[in-house]
Amino acid sequence: MIARTRAGTIRERKGRPFATVTAYDAAFGRAVENAGIDVILVGDSLGNVVLGYVSTVSVTLEDMERHSAAVVRGTTRAHVAVDLPFMSYEPSNEDAVRSAGRLVRAGASSVKLEGGVEHADRIAAIVAANIPVMAHIGVIPQTASLGTGFKRRTDRQRLLADADAVTAAGAFAVVLEMIDPEIAREITARIPIPTIGIGSGPHCDAQILVLYDLLGLSSNPPPFAKPYADLGALATAAIRRYADDVAAGRDPADGPAPETSALRVAVSEPVRPASR
Ligand code: KIV
Repeated sequence: MIARTRAGTIRERKGRPFATVTAYDAAFGRAVENAGIDVILVGDSLGNVVLGYVSTVSVTLEDMERHSAAVVRGTTRAHVAVDLPFMSYEPSNEDAVRSAGRLVRAGASSVKLEGGVEHADRIAAIVAANIPVMAHIGVIPQTASLGTGFKRRTDRQRLLADADAVTAAGAFAVVLEMIDPEIAREITARIPIPTIGIGSGPHCDAQILVLYDLLGLSSNPPPFAKPYADLGALATAAIRRYADDVAAGRDPADGPAPETSALRVAVSEPVRPASR
């Protein structure tokens, strides 16, 4: 059995840039791993990009169990961090540990939860149960969707306090979402664990993107998410060609029509689809 990348290994990458990305199923988990990325997050962005919800608050622990198990089945080496969904950890430390345990049983290598000072005791409780925790501060989508909003965070003192609190609680890494880049730089220099930025500028130790944003599959990506391909358009074109073949009486079992080879061209340069 090949060992998966451990939380301790990720912690030691402080100061050395690395890429992480989300995945939600076996096929894309495999694609991410084949691209050389060994830290995957099964984010509760699952709710928006895969399940079609307007926010992440509708995502359940059962959803996260099912999708993290799929990513684990599709991968062999990657560390698979999994989001604790809304209300699976807030009520009590006991709830947090129990929910984290369920995700580990489903195959998670670690869990992630949102919040700084206010949830440091939840992080400490899960770490005390020997389950590694990735923290997430700055814009925290679960509650942002309920009122605080998706505005870039500039409240320096509070953000520094959050970063210190999650570090002291034992998190092995921390996601910084939509934090002013200069404050993200300061946090990165201040704490001994890797910072993983999303919409927080280039000075974090690592970066993360939602896979569907990266691939051009999201209908409403955030402005900071640069698509590296337009798989949405490629998928529509391929499906249309298939439908055209069927309508013309051609047997789809005869294999791809010659033009589809164009669809296989890897898009290596970042592209920005016209619709954005
Ligand atoms: O749910 C998610 O995909 C996340 C990332 C945006 C960090 O939390």
